[in-house]
Amino acid sequence: MALSLYVFHLFYKFKVLVLVTLCLMVLWATFSYFVDSRHEISKAKSMVEDFRKVTSLEDSQKEEEIESVPTVKSLQGHCPALSPYLRGASKLTFKATLTLEEVQKENPQVVKGRYHPTECSALQHVAILIPHRNREKHLLYLLEHLHPFLQRQQLDYGIYVIHQAGSTKFNRAKLLNVGYLEALKEANWDCFIFHDVDLVPENDFNIYMCDRQPKHLVVGRNNTGYRLRYRGYFGGVTALTRDQFSKVNGFSNKYWGWGGEDDDLRIRVEMQKMRVVRPSADVARYTMIFHKRDHGNEENGERMKLLRQVSRTWKTDGLNSCSYKLLSVEHNPLYVNITVDFSTQPKIS
Ligand SMILES: *[C@@H]1O[C@H](CO)[C@@H](O)[C@H](O)[C@H]1NC(C)=O
Ligand SMILES: *[C@@H]1O[C@H](CO)[C@@H](O)[C@H](O)[C@H]1NC(C)=O
Repeated sequence: MALSLYVFHLFYKFKVLVLVTLCLMVLWATFSYFVDSRHEISKAKSMVEDFRKVTSLEDSQKEEEIESVPTVKSLQGHCPALSPYLRGASKLTFKATLTLEEVQKENPQVVKGRYHPTECSALQHVAILIPHRNREKHLLYLLEHLHPFLQRQQLDYGIYVIHQAGSTKFNRAKLLNVGYLEALKEANWDCFIFHDVDLVPENDFNIYMCDRQPKHLVVGRNNTGYRLRYRGYFGGVTALTRDQFSKVNGFSNKYWGWGGEDDDLRIRVEMQKMRVVRPSADVARYTMIFHKRDHGNEENGERMKLLRQVSRTWKTDGLNSCSYKLLSVEHNPLYVNITVDFSTQPKIS
């Protein structure tokens, strides 16, 4: 009797233990379900955040502004991710008699090369850098089309023309390094567009903003049948954030004459584990204004040799070694003219 009572007691204990274990398991399952779903929600949230960061690289800065001193500007809403003023493809014309005064009259809101939308606060501050020598007519056509194009995109932007004085061979890459360094002395730009003077964008859905990855904006141009020139092509017009460009130490300063410097930049980008992105081909279309190769911009015979050395030279050849003689900075109505002289620099180093 005592034994059977003992066995019963033991059995009862066992049942309680099983019950408690079951309860614990149910509790644990419920708990981990909620933790999981919370994780999912925060994952979705961070994806939305990521997207927001792409469309607005300066959000965090704006939020700080709101927290500290609420200015009129920071209380204004952000511009939408896609501007309502975009028109799509347009047929470009280039009037032979066009003058700078006419283009100025068309753009009364542009002051010293700069513009910002008044109806909303722009998602990015964008500096357009245009290397230049002896191409006044091309520059005029580009300004004529680019100003309204950028305004339709609701950008806060500035146009900088970096003019190489003297008769040293043309150095596009070094001029762009100068543009980056000088433009940052004037404003805290988020994004830089490195823009050839003879390429005019045809479609305003080709957005002049920076991405999470360096962006190449020229997929096609009318003189190549609107096809990419070659697979790794990274020339013509590119968009890099301030950080992306400084991470690769900018362009090399050693490319005198035509060619190679854009491939050099692509190699730098890839070495930093970044990858080049492009808009779709139907949007990334340009018209190239016809010209012969300029005197002083002959093909660079050194370029293949230079391209083989990038991995050894990029750290010491770039933004951190870009020395130049600044001759003048003129604030014209439609653009800032930064004039530099490279003639005191060694041609080949
Ligand atoms: C591209 O368009 C420009 C401007 O209309 C024109 O001058 C040039 O000849 C065109 N190029 C080709 C190859 O069609
Ligand atoms: C830029 O300024 C220099 C120096 O004043 C001048 O010689 C040059 O013509 C200007 N270039 C442009 C495109 O305005």
